[in-house]
Amino acid sequence: MPERATAPTLLELNNVVKSFGGVTAVDKLTAHVREGSVHGLIGPNGAGKTTVINLITGLFHPTSGSIHFNNVHLENMGPPAIAALGITRTYQNVRLFSGMTALEQVMTGCYLVRGVSLWSSFLSLSSARSQWAKTRDHALHLLDRVGMADRADELAETLSYGEQRRIEIARALGSNPKLLLLDEPTAGMNAQEASAVGRLVHELRAGGLTILMVEHNMGLVTEFCDSCTVINFGRLLAEGDPKTCIADPEVQEAYFGRKNDAERLQALR
Ligand SMILES: Nc1ncnc2c1ncn2[C@@H]1O[C@H](COP(=O)(O)OP(=O)(O)OP(=O)(O)O)[C@@H](O)[C@H]1O
Ligand SMILES: [Mg+2]
Repeated sequence: MPERATAPTLLELNNVVKSFGGVTAVDKLTAHVREGSVHGLIGPNGAGKTTVINLITGLFHPTSGSIHFNNVHLENMGPPAIAALGITRTYQNVRLFSGMTALEQVMTGCYLVRGVSLWSSFLSLSSARSQWAKTRDHALHLLDRVGMADRADELAETLSYGEQRRIEIARALGSNPKLLLLDEPTAGMNAQEASAVGRLVHELRAGGLTILMVEHNMGLVTEFCDSCTVINFGRLLAEGDPKTCIADPEVQEAYFGRKNDAERLQALR
């Protein structure tokens, strides 16, 4: 998609390192996500993908290197400040609040922009009530957007895994982010559900959102991502067009190993 290939960079990681004691989870990683694109972040298990998302969202601070979003340095900021800049996420393992309905879960995500302070609730009950009604309408709209409007009043724990993931996406959209980070949004889904998430991601991008998506399903990556970054052992293996990246011999080796033992022995010599 040429217009996306030349769009300005919205998020940039520059030489980012993250060490946990003796483990270097992210190792001098440089990556670029263009505005208005769906960008895949791929790599084998343990490659450092979730750590990258945790660094972008301020859950961890980099050991060294820099992360820029819209020309703002994120490295020393915490999660609330980063969320307020317009970056939200979903989690690899679904994290919904138990005992809350689908609608209530999504409403919690809307309070970042529509927060009703306790004082305003005391001083002006009617304005707090109208804020609540607006938040509810917005949350219902988001549930509709992810195809879950008819499940608004269901407790999240009674919903299927795929439905829970959709609710998480709706909750992350609650604050009208500029950048949405999805950590394995199709994990545990069947092919049909996964494809529906791919289409949803495409629709969200058409609405102007930029998406960084960790995904193991290479079919989805080639179908729905405009570009991708491939990492292994926290290091950059390839960046650019998904089909070209996936065909890269180094990427193939990282995922599938060397073709045969003779080649492996050759490499050891
Ligand atoms: N909080 C932490 N403390 C110590 N080590 C960690 C921590 N978080 C991640 N790691 C290590 O960093 C490396 C990268 O982990 P990470 O979860 O980022 O990989 P991943 O690419 O998301 O893997 P997967 O595909 O299995 O989700 C792993 O070796 C992991 O054990
Ligand atoms: Mg992970």
